[in-house]
Amino acid sequence: MLGGWLPGAVDLVAAHLPGAGTVVDLGAGTGTGALALARRLPRATVVAVDRSPAMLAHLRTAAAAAGVADRVRTLEADLDAGWPLTGRVDAVWAASSLHHLADADRVLREAHAALRPGGVAVVVELDEQVRLLTDALAPGLASRLAQAASTWNVHPDWGPHLERAGFELLDVRHVATEAVDARFGRAWLALLRSTLADRLAPADVTTLDRLLAQHPATLDALPVRAERTVWLARRPHAGPAPAARATPPTPPTSPTTHDGGAR
Ligand SMILES: C[S@@+](CC[C@H](N)C(=O)[O-])C[C@H]1O[C@@H](n2cnc3c(N)ncnc32)[C@H](O)[C@@H]1O
Repeated sequence: MLGGWLPGAVDLVAAHLPGAGTVVDLGAGTGTGALALARRLPRATVVAVDRSPAMLAHLRTAAAAAGVADRVRTLEADLDAGWPLTGRVDAVWAASSLHHLADADRVLREAHAALRPGGVAVVVELDEQVRLLTDALAPGLASRLAQAASTWNVHPDWGPHLERAGFELLDVRHVATEAVDARFGRAWLALLRSTLADRLAPADVTTLDRLLAQHPATLDALPVRAERTVWLARRPHAGPAPAARATPPTPPTSPTTHDGGAR
């Protein structure tokens, strides 16, 4: 649902690294990104990192159902406790997860260090919560729900953060997706009801309870919209190391330092 942005974002990775070998999905959740990456990048192993064992269990089931279980590895780890991997990676993916982290700048620096030169990072965030596009349920309810959910997914412009971590920012795009879906609409209203009741007027809570109990036909055709920003950044190919730049090339005493990464 509302996944129209996903193929384009995955294509960004594939366009830069069609032969990517290792991709890390930070805060992978139930695996929306990890599975799409595994499908799009046939040589890649995707390491799905999340601190929630329940999310990762769901992800493993989904990977098996999608036929990519052999190339999707789950890693239960708290990113707030440090970078959880050893070794170089080709791409890093973080969708709707960076804003959850206590120190996202540290994680971006560690992601940059883990990436091979030329490797890319894709960061995705919802710009505002999923929004109902209809007032058919109750006058003004859609905007009041949007207002109540407006503190979710609050995030900065990650561009300057990526650059401070050493990345070269290649692309920033805003993607809006709309859909009409009965199951999603009901699940979305139920989530809002259970998590935002204290921020809604009692009359709106009553309305949600009534709608969820009665399932009127309007619930089966709820148009919803989501807007996301997608940042694409690259670890630059390394130039000569500073020591090599300062040293004339003639005496072959100290070898030029290379980053060691494939380009
Ligand atoms: C909103 S979900 C996004 C899931 C998925 N990336 C997606 O696009 O659907 C955020 C995920 O980040 C995970 N997460 C939050 N903080 C984390 C942390 N410190 N370490 C690891 N995972 C974390 C949560 O468990 C959750 O699965």
